[in-house]
Amino acid sequence: MARGRGRILPSPVWTPDFACGHPTIDDEHLGLLVALRGIFSGMESGQPFDTLVSATDALLARCRAHFTNEEVLLRGIGYPKVIQHSQSHQSLLSKLSEIRNDFARGPEESLEQIASRLHDLVVLHLLREDRDYFPYLLTSKGGE
Ligand SMILES: [Fe+2]
Ligand SMILES: [Fe+2]
Repeated sequence: MARGRGRILPSPVWTPDFACGHPTIDDEHLGLLVALRGIFSGMESGQPFDTLVSATDALLARCRAHFTNEEVLLRGIGYPKVIQHSQSHQSLLSKLSEIRNDFARGPEESLEQIASRLHDLVVLHLLREDRDYFPYLLTSKGGE
């Protein structure tokens, strides 16, 4: 497979849409976007798949740590959909592990397709599901 030339993969950047106003959560979300960009730039520059596996393992670890912190926070503020949100995190981790294993095997899909899956998995969670709890955070003292 020709790799590393002329690819335009997603490059998720921080915008106000991602901001919930809680410094730890915003930092962690920014860290997820930076980690994603690192994987995409590695794909574009033709890094070997074992490097992409390591980068995806690092993203997985970052997601696990963030999800744990986020779920503690959501319980603390009494977010009513915390169980569904936790299930969504587990599903995301499982799908991210599949992508990690795709890199480990040598993917059958194009890198553009994998990048699109990876982007949607993380970015759409932040912009859709996480944004659902933002109003609860802003009206709760537990958000500090
Ligand atoms: Fe979340
Ligand atoms: Fe989150």
